[in-house]
Amino acid sequence: MKKEINIFKEALLPKGGYKGGKSKAEVLSQIGKKKLYKLSSNENYLGSSPKALKAIRSNLAGLSIYPERTDATLRKALASFYGGIFSADQFITDNSGVALLEMIERAFLGPKTEIIICNPAFKPYHMFAKKLGAEVVDVPLKGKNFILDIPGILKAINKKTRLLFLCSPNNPTGTHIPKSQLDELMPQLPPHVVTVYDEVYYQYADAEDYTTALPYVDAGMQVIGVNSFSKAYGLAGMRIGYGYTSEKLARYISQVHRPFQINTLAMEGAKAALTDKSFIKKTVQLVLEEKNYIYKSLDKLGVKYWKTQANFITLKPKMKADKVEAAMLKQGIMVRPVANFGAPGCIRVTIGDRQANAAYLKALKKVLQA
Ligand SMILES: Cc1ncc(COP(=O)(O)O)c(C=O)c1O
Repeated sequence: MKKEINIFKEALLPKGGYKGGKSKAEVLSQIGKKKLYKLSSNENYLGSSPKALKAIRSNLAGLSIYPERTDATLRKALASFYGGIFSADQFITDNSGVALLEMIERAFLGPKTEIIICNPAFKPYHMFAKKLGAEVVDVPLKGKNFILDIPGILKAINKKTRLLFLCSPNNPTGTHIPKSQLDELMPQLPPHVVTVYDEVYYQYADAEDYTTALPYVDAGMQVIGVNSFSKAYGLAGMRIGYGYTSEKLARYISQVHRPFQINTLAMEGAKAALTDKSFIKKTVQLVLEEKNYIYKSLDKLGVKYWKTQANFITLKPKMKADKVEAAMLKQGIMVRPVANFGAPGCIRVTIGDRQANAAYLKALKKVLQA
């Protein structure tokens, strides 16, 4: 008898695959509660950009026909959003930030290649890389303030290194990489290494020394700024994201872009969202006000946390993270333990509106003092 070929090798079926946060409906049905504050996936607590929703509604009638063959009109809208600094050919789009990260990895990775990540980090960076046969090299963020280890990164680079993943503001820590560190690192990177700079929370950053990837892309460095419409624009359910880089890199990555990749509603919703400045202003204002309110309450509770540049705050309670998650759920609050992002013992909580934040803090107090 012929020996069966096992196409499902263990390496292709990693046990710790990425599980996104649970949906509200899934949890409501499990806990049998009517009211639930979902503070586990960093969505926008104010909902979606009204301009995007209007555009989505007005395009419902056209769904029997294919969307635009390419993403050209969205890239043109992005070029205009960036004030003409970049041409439309410098943008890449995909069905979410995560999909874009995967597309970039598909373009560059395979066996005998390596990527560098800096844990604690967004888990999908290394999930896709492993599946593509690449080695994942971790150069952890240093110390209790999660500082980028520049000498460590430079030492880890070799001929096989293709991608360096940086995230600022970082998920799950909420911390950022100061511009001075990036100014030091970027010019030292060899030409065969492309930096993937994940900035999906950039709208919320208020630190004076925060920067997006813009100056580095503008200076012609090998950098891709990765963005999403899921966070500040409130379009997580639409699944749409974009990146900006050099024309050369954008063209190279676009080789793995499918025709009709972006659906009509996502395309039109995203274009409209880009013009919705007042919604972004309101969204950011809420987060900036509420984070100070949450800091004060966490200080009073004596809980260790990290000041954030994003729309979530990560804390390290003295109680086990999974226990806190379960106890909070009983109080109708969904939070996210982030051990699988390289932050054991930590819980990540989205900043909501005052009502949600007050309910979360009340529940946390009850859980921690029980
Ligand atoms: C750091 C980071 N990058 C990328 C994403 C991807 O967002 P999406 O796939 O919803 O666009 C997320 C979402 O949680 C994130 O936290």
